[in-house]
Amino acid sequence: MKVYKIGDNILKYRFGTPFPTDAVVKAGEGIEKDSIDYFQIEEKEELKLLYKMAPKDIVFGLGENQRGINKRGGKYISFCSDDPNHTPGKRSLYGAHNFIIIDGMENFGVFIDHPGKVVFDIGFNHKDYLEITIENKNFDLYIIEGNSPREIVSSFLNIIGEGYVPPKWAFGYQQSRWSYPDAEKVEEIADKFIENNIPCDAIYLDIDYMEDYKNFTVSEERFPNFKEFVEKMKDKGFRLIPIIDAGVKIEDGYEIHEEGVEKGYFCVDSEGEPFVAAVWPGKVHFPDFLNRESRLWFGKKYGKLIDCGIEGFWNDMNEPAIFYTNRGIEQAIEEAKNAEGKNLNIDSFFGLKDEFRNISNNIEDYKSFYHNIEGKLVNHYDVHNLYGYNMTRSADEGFKKISPNKRFLLISRSSYIGMHRHSGIWTGDNHSWWEHILLNIKMMPSLNMCGFLYSGADTGGFSDDANGELAVRWTQFSIFTPLFRNHSAKGTRHQEPFAFDEESNSIMKEAIKLRYGLIPYIYSEYMKAIINKDIYFAPISFEYNDEYSRRVEDQLLVGDSLMISPIYEENSRGRYIWLPEDMLLWKAKDYSERKYEIVEKGHRYLDIDIDEIPIFIRKNKVLVLGKHANTVDDIDNEELVVIAFAEDKASYTYYDDDGRSLDYRDGIYSKIIIEIEKREDDYQINVENHGNKDIKRLKLEIVDREGKVTKKTINI
Ligand code: GLC
Repeated sequence: MKVYKIGDNILKYRFGTPFPTDAVVKAGEGIEKDSIDYFQIEEKEELKLLYKMAPKDIVFGLGENQRGINKRGGKYISFCSDDPNHTPGKRSLYGAHNFIIIDGMENFGVFIDHPGKVVFDIGFNHKDYLEITIENKNFDLYIIEGNSPREIVSSFLNIIGEGYVPPKWAFGYQQSRWSYPDAEKVEEIADKFIENNIPCDAIYLDIDYMEDYKNFTVSEERFPNFKEFVEKMKDKGFRLIPIIDAGVKIEDGYEIHEEGVEKGYFCVDSEGEPFVAAVWPGKVHFPDFLNRESRLWFGKKYGKLIDCGIEGFWNDMNEPAIFYTNRGIEQAIEEAKNAEGKNLNIDSFFGLKDEFRNISNNIEDYKSFYHNIEGKLVNHYDVHNLYGYNMTRSADEGFKKISPNKRFLLISRSSYIGMHRHSGIWTGDNHSWWEHILLNIKMMPSLNMCGFLYSGADTGGFSDDANGELAVRWTQFSIFTPLFRNHSAKGTRHQEPFAFDEESNSIMKEAIKLRYGLIPYIYSEYMKAIINKDIYFAPISFEYNDEYSRRVEDQLLVGDSLMISPIYEENSRGRYIWLPEDMLLWKAKDYSERKYEIVEKGHRYLDIDIDEIPIFIRKNKVLVLGKHANTVDDIDNEELVVIAFAEDKASYTYYDDDGRSLDYRDGIYSKIIIEIEKREDDYQINVENHGNKDIKRLKLEIVDREGKVTKKTINI
């Protein structure tokens, strides 16, 4: 074991010869040390790290996973999985995010940098023990110390590098469905948004836009003159976001297939032939994204669609999902033949059933193909969790070659720590279930801790049918998530706001308009979090350390100023909340109508009508609010409403930039610093403008401890 020190508070323990994942961007200095802090090690066939948790310890992290914000009580398996049924017992979803924080008697973070299978048993087998099992003994273990979970997260974000920033328009509302199958339907949807006056910035193209599900092709029949169509839609205010899948269809004459085979860009089987699996188009090869050359080759192909005016993509099925292989089908048929005419008992019948059920995404298949890493063949199974990450890295690297300073929208389904430098993620195939709104709420801070700030769920739910109330309540939560996309599966009820009854449509519309009004705050908080290596969504215990706050799982901090308490139960017209301090409540309905009330610290029951979104402004904090428009580009930025809950003073730093380029990385952005201080019966206001040329007026609404509102206008 070698030990390295990174900064003052991070130690990296290197076991064996780990596969380079590129998750961490900071190297350390070697030091002399022969024992591991905090953990006991058990070494058998696998390596096990053991830690005895104190009764009140909380374990945060693990990004995309089931269960609570506090991960205690569960067992989680990091193995990127194409599993559309996110039921509570599931141990693997699409991402592998091996970072946890222990917060209690001792405070430290742990990151297992290993691209194969890792199991986190957090008090499942034995309630007091954290057991981390790493199947392969070549890995890096990082231990990060800090005084608080926030400090630990920040140190972690610092070593995994600066997060992805999408273009500003990608903070607008986005409408998706599997599928809007042709240009006519896409335009009809766009026109309905316009007719209904509902803001929307993007419409997604699911697999049916392609010719026979072939990546980087467009069906001539369904989308004739694609380039002109993209332009036309942009003129109407909508960007089109096509899907790209991991598998490349095997077909003579299909350029990507032929080139890939010829140049050896695909993963190979044990005979050295391109590995064959089946996904949407039938038989496919998988590009070897772990190989640099293949990655560069595939990344450049995005240019075909970028040349048509496309500015965003979603990378899918990149765990990679395998519907079947010949091996799986043959084995199942063999079993079926053996069973023919027999009197099957409990074991043989269920065995037969499982044989068919396990045809898809079978471990045997993942073990039967290889990546070519600098001339050496590496079995896919050992590096499985890096596949989606590197597909998405390939796209990002392609974008940087095509248009080096332009921001593209990019989201991926599968991910690994470090991918957050290249793209955001959506949380995959959820259901139109109330339970999945709650899961979405709990997952957001965990994803943030692992670096994935630009993320969100399929609002309204992917599988199953949503009713109006579920769509309304989910939308009311999603207006706070940086990625705000409504998506639904084939065969389910349509989920656009206007697909529901008049009342639901109108409430969703008001919520979406409010989202556009909140963009100045959301974007400012998002960007400050990226630049300062901080998070956007946090559990309330990250700021309030009382015993109740430490247990709250369904209220979140959004940026530095807000706390939210979403509704996630059907027929509910209110809920219990815990207020760790007095806060200012705005039950937002229509964003131009603002009524405030002070809610005092304590356990409260809050009435929340179907059209209300409770937004709490924390003590001495500020919310900035802009105007809505039908697209982000059309927002009129001249005036900013500044709502302050100022017991004695409050301040806010408003961040903005061009929203399109990567210039912010060179420090090219503007700031307006607003300081409010109470003076007897009035307030002293200090405003410093550092380079903002858009905003001309600040309209202040300052609320004091008694609820008195003082209004002021400041020209800048
Ligand atoms: C996968 C994706 C889903 C998409 C569907 C068809 O299930 O997760 O979002 O709509 O494939 O492409």
